[in-house]
Amino acid sequence: MAERIFIGVAWPYANGSLHLGHIAGAYLPADIFARYHRAKGNEVLMVSGSDQHGTPITIRAEQEGKAPHEIATRFHQEFLTCWDRLGISFDLFTSTGTANHAEVVQDFFLELLKKGHVYTDIMPLAYCDQCQRYLPDRYVEGECPFCGYPEARGDQCDRCNKPLNFNELIGPRCRLCGSAPREQESQHFFLRLSHFTDQLLAWVRQQSHWRHNVLNFTMRYLEEGLRDRAITRDIDWGVAIPQAGFEHKRIYVWFEAVIGYLSASKEWARLSGNEERWRDFWCGDARSYYFIGKDNIPFHTVIWPAMLMGYGGLNLPYDVPANEFLTLEQRPLSTSRNWAVWVPDYLERYDPDPLRYLLSANMPETGDSDFSWREFVRRNNDELLATYGNLVHRVLTFTHRHFDGCVPAPGELVA
Ligand code: MF3
Ligand code: ZN
Repeated sequence: MAERIFIGVAWPYANGSLHLGHIAGAYLPADIFARYHRAKGNEVLMVSGSDQHGTPITIRAEQEGKAPHEIATRFHQEFLTCWDRLGISFDLFTSTGTANHAEVVQDFFLELLKKGHVYTDIMPLAYCDQCQRYLPDRYVEGECPFCGYPEARGDQCDRCNKPLNFNELIGPRCRLCGSAPREQESQHFFLRLSHFTDQLLAWVRQQSHWRHNVLNFTMRYLEEGLRDRAITRDIDWGVAIPQAGFEHKRIYVWFEAVIGYLSASKEWARLSGNEERWRDFWCGDARSYYFIGKDNIPFHTVIWPAMLMGYGGLNLPYDVPANEFLTLEQRPLSTSRNWAVWVPDYLERYDPDPLRYLLSANMPETGDSDFSWREFVRRNNDELLATYGNLVHRVLTFTHRHFDGCVPAPGELVA
């Protein structure tokens, strides 16, 4: 019988071009998986979209003197062109900037609020006296309390990948001026993550089919116990909070971006002419797979599942096959150091298939893997051209020479 497979792929921030790390980390493996299941006769729904909110976009907009939506729209268009040219076969690639997304997020928020999984409390925010402004999470830097990494950010440590609050950082400093931010209190909504620790542990213990790195990271994270997390911020770029008195605040980007998987499915259903069809992929026997890079693991194996448990009635992830990172010529990719192969640049010069081939053959599945131009040329010339091309060429000439260019009906097999 045909299976139903939901495939969610990480939503790229619409603040810059895609690079090969994104493709190897999430989009290509998801596409291969989707094509495999479609070829097998299974029903597949593969969705993602541009992550249009959060500081990555506002920082870029500030730098360019543009409005955040201009930045987001520009890169959203660029992403669509990339998927098309790379052959990444989304059923829908939308964005978190749609009215539909805001509606689904607000419904989710209100349902969690109604059930007591979301509550208000006072949260200390980082305020920099020197710069005279509130500092968004990623503007605060300090030492990670978990692994000691000296350059952890106020939302997450980029070394051990654990989510953080800025006031957990040791020796926090403003990334703009270097001075120590002070705590300023403001009222916010919190997600009662602590309530879900045991339920999540019991669930994760059953996921023996998960990759080791994903399972181990998640178990370790849960065993430390979960703390509630603020899900709103003092910013004006993002999804509005459907509660009076919070007009000048917005829903935190991570809380709403993961709901994108659901809102995109609903949008897809509506576009398909059957509004209720998304349920085929979110309820019952359908299996959901989330293709992401390893830095996104806790959001997909802990926070999103907790949100789904709280909301109720929707499937939890069946698998989260997070990939490791791709390095470029043995060095980590870095957007800020412009050390990356950008997808639009690649596509200007070469065809998609040699890249898809190389990244498939050398995918960062169990450890980081390296991309180098030398290896790109070697695999293209030695493997695609010499080995595979030669096979194809021989079969074709043989068919032409002996069978008038037409594959004959198979005869008896003789031993
Ligand atoms: N935009 C985030 C990033 O690039 C990923 C978001 S995945 C989602 O790290 F599920 F939350 F949308
Ligand atoms: Zn750390």
